[in-house]
Amino acid sequence: MPAPIHTPKPPRPEPAIRVVMMPRDTNGEGTIFGGVILSYIDQAGFVEAKRQANHRYVTVCMDKVDFKQPVFVGDLLSLYAETSRIGRTSLTVKINAFAQRANDPETAVPVTEAEVTFVAVGDEGRPMPIRQGQRD
Ligand SMILES: CC(C)(COP(=O)(O)OP(=O)(O)OC[C@H]1O[C@@H](n2cnc3c(N)ncnc32)[C@H](O)[C@@H]1OP(=O)(O)O)[C@@H](O)C(=O)NCCC(=O)NCCS
Repeated sequence: MPAPIHTPKPPRPEPAIRVVMMPRDTNGEGTIFGGVILSYIDQAGFVEAKRQANHRYVTVCMDKVDFKQPVFVGDLLSLYAETSRIGRTSLTVKINAFAQRANDPETAVPVTEAEVTFVAVGDEGRPMPIRQGQRD
């Protein structure tokens, strides 16, 4: 059986995902709804988890979500992901989201930070060990 993985691959310099904020994503304040950003954080974390080891994953915990600055319609949001820990069946990914404002594309404004834990699951949806054989 392939060996377990304990050491994360180093982070990539490019974002896990990039997305343009749309008018449909706004809250009553006219800024971007936090739940939309959480969804993108979840996706970016999943992309990173799959890069670490090609399992099926479910999200078990979103932790320490810090909305530092508002996000606006027209912003280009870049979500960077770094795996901080690989356990037996779970791994934890830190997400840093930066916004490039439509009127100031040269500046990347740090807007949100979060930590997300994913669990590798088998066919029955039960946790399974994160294994070397599932890594490139
Ligand atoms: C994820 C799930 C399969 C884990 O089942 P479980 O019976 O709690 O599994 P275990 O207790 O064996 O824990 C499995 C791993 O998850 C970790 N874990 C469990 N609950 C956790 C939590 N709240 N926060 C962080 N890690 C957690 C454990 O530490 C363990 O990690 P390790 O193997 O690396 O040490 C189960 O809780 C589940 O299906 N949750 C719903 C997931 C889902 O549908 N997510 C989408 C959003 S609805």
